[in-house]
Amino acid sequence: MNILVAGGAGYIGSHTCVALLEAGHTVSVVDNLLNSKIEILEQIKKITGKAVVFYQVDVTNEAAMETIFSEHMFDGVIHFAGLKAVGESVAKPLEYYYNNVVSTLVLAKMCRSYGVKRFVFSSSATVYGDNKVPFIESMPLLSTTNPYGETKVMSERILMDFAQVNNHHSIALLRYFNPIGAHESGLLGESPNGVPNNLMPYMTQVAKGKQAKLRVFGNDYETIDGTGVRDYLHVCDLAEGHVAALNKITAGVHIYNLGTGCGTSVLQLVEAFEQANGIKLPYEIVGRRPGDIAECFADVSKVAQELGWTAKRDLVAMCKDAWRFEQRLLS
Ligand code: NAD
Ligand code: UD1
Repeated sequence: MNILVAGGAGYIGSHTCVALLEAGHTVSVVDNLLNSKIEILEQIKKITGKAVVFYQVDVTNEAAMETIFSEHMFDGVIHFAGLKAVGESVAKPLEYYYNNVVSTLVLAKMCRSYGVKRFVFSSSATVYGDNKVPFIESMPLLSTTNPYGETKVMSERILMDFAQVNNHHSIALLRYFNPIGAHESGLLGESPNGVPNNLMPYMTQVAKGKQAKLRVFGNDYETIDGTGVRDYLHVCDLAEGHVAALNKITAGVHIYNLGTGCGTSVLQLVEAFEQANGIKLPYEIVGRRPGDIAECFADVSKVAQELGWTAKRDLVAMCKDAWRFEQRLLS
């Protein structure tokens, strides 16, 4: 298939480009490089031996998107082009609502105008709010605590309403749990600007000596050891989930959790990292981070049954691959 990957230079998008190329698809990437670098495209080529067509364009620029769609006959679109920092979304709500919602509107409009039948959207487990675990696709959504989360709820709703009246389109809303790790080559991974907010990038920076110690946000949750529990999945498994969705979805809207179905606490992840890499990670327990929930993990039976996808890589691979990538970064 001929696939447009919006946000394809980013962390999850770049790994998905590799998975798509390896599965024999043709890939065009549109990215404004706001949170990524052009060099990523070279890394994709090194891994796969194949090039992608690249447009440095903002997806909210409808005229520029018209040009791209008119130059290709796409079979499908994957929409990763979002801003994703939760704290920043509280400080800059208008920028987040504009970027994340308008990008969805423009891409859906292009798919309607140019008859592109498959649409895969990057949603998040954050839409479940503080529901009872495991989170299952049929649950009513509880309110999210920040504008970022709301943009995911709104985009899902827009795409559901779109599908009601454009019933030849096949739409997958993929709710990611916590992607971590990197491509096993060490050529692709996650390199956030500034001090990382998320746990694994922070841990690899501690291991490298860029941060003095990990701050564990709370050990008084009702969990196995009092620290927060999440469903960490390898970014390459997540990438393969997108290929499965593109191949299998039929007309209508389909919602899938992409996770492993297993919960891991912060301290369990620290221990797994230490064992996998033979490195001690100094940490201190500090207060809870506002907006955090105690536990978040997926029920993955629907995606396994309908898409035939399950996460294959374990925590050891996630920790080794994340650390391999961090070591290759220059600073
Ligand atoms: P990322 O920031 O690494 O990648 C997003 C890419 O989109 C970047 O390359 C950025 O430059 C580009 N982009 C953003 N807005 C754009 C626009 N208007 N036009 C063109 N390009 C634009 O983030 P990621 O971790 O790869 O996440 C991808 C998607 O998955 C996002 O929508 C994010 O909200 C969602 N998601 C991520 C996680 C996670 O833990 N990383 C979890 C759940 C959902
Ligand atoms: C966060 C976002 C979520 C987003 C996801 C991916 C918040 C509240 N939630 O999820 O909306 O979809 O990132 O971008 O920001 N932790 C520490 N110390 C740290 C960092 C994290 O103890 O320095 C703990 C957290 O309290 C949590 C776990 O590690 O229990 C995972 O945190 P993180 O990686 O930030 O992911 P989420 O909070 O699950």
